[in-house]
Amino acid sequence: MANHAFLLSSFFFFLLHFGVEAAKMTVKNNCGISIWPATLTSGPGQPQLSTTGFKLAPGESKSFNVPAPWTGRVWARTRCSNNGRFTCMTGDCGRGLSCNGAGGVPPVTLAEFTIAPDGGQDFYDVSLVDGFNLPVTITIQGGKGPCRSSNCRADVNKVCPAELQVKSGNEVIACKSACLAFNKPEYCCTGEFNDPKKCKPTNYSMIFERQCPEAYSYAYDDKNSTFTCNNRPNYLITFCG
Ligand SMILES: *[C@@H]1O[C@H](CO)[C@@H](O)[C@H](O)[C@H]1NC(C)=O
Ligand SMILES: *[C@@H]1O[C@H](CO)[C@@H](O)[C@H](O)[C@H]1NC(C)=O
Repeated sequence: MANHAFLLSSFFFFLLHFGVEAAKMTVKNNCGISIWPATLTSGPGQPQLSTTGFKLAPGESKSFNVPAPWTGRVWARTRCSNNGRFTCMTGDCGRGLSCNGAGGVPPVTLAEFTIAPDGGQDFYDVSLVDGFNLPVTITIQGGKGPCRSSNCRADVNKVCPAELQVKSGNEVIACKSACLAFNKPEYCCTGEFNDPKKCKPTNYSMIFERQCPEAYSYAYDDKNSTFTCNNRPNYLITFCG
C-alpha cells in the first residue's frame, strides 16, 4: 500500500514538474451562427499548434494544448463556404480550413497570447488594432495573480461608421480600423507618428474604445489592456460571449 502511494505521489510530482509544459486552450462558439476559429503561432522558432483551423457550430467548443513558451493569436472566421475552395467573408487566411501559419485578413478581432515557460507570467489581450469582426471574451481557469477576464463583448459592427464598414448585402459583417481603411500615419502610428507620445486616440479609435474599453483600440493605445496571469492557467476563448 505504502509503495503504491509512493508511486502515485512520484507520478504527480513528475506531472507537476515535467509532464504538463502546456496550457489548455478552449475555444467556444456562443454566436448564433457557425464560426471557423483559427490559430497562428508568431513566436520565432515556435511550431504551429496541433490545430490551426476548425469549425464550431453554435454552442460547440474545442480544446487543444498550447506548448510553453508560445506567442500567438486566436481569431474566428465567419461566413465560410466551400465551393471547390474554402473561403470566408471575414478573417480568411487564404489557405483553407487549416491556416498552417497564415494570419487572418483584417478586419478581425484578435485574442493575443504570450504563454511563459515554467509557469512564469503569461500575457494576454484583445486587440481591435486590425479592426473587429466578432465579440470575444478571454477567461482564465486556474493560475495565480490578477488573472482577470478580458473582453470585447460589444458588437462594434452595429455602431461602425459607413467608411469603416465591411458589408454583405445590407449587413455589416466587420468594422475596419481607421488604419486599415485610410492607411494614414496618424491612424497607423507609422512615419512621424511612430511614437506613443505622438500617436493619439482619434475619433475613429474612440469608437472602438467606447465599445470595448478593455481592448486595444489602436497601435499605441497606452492604457493597460494587457492582462497577466502566472502559474500556467488554462484559457477559455468565447466568441460572442
Ligand atoms: C473623424 O474625423 C475625420 C477627420 O477630421 C472626419 O473626416 C470624419 O468625418 C470623422 N468621422 C467620425 C466618424 O467622426
Ligand atoms: C490598470 O491599472 C489600474 C491602476 O493601476 C488597475 O486598477 C487596473 O486594474 C488595471 N487594469 C487592468 C486591466 O489590468
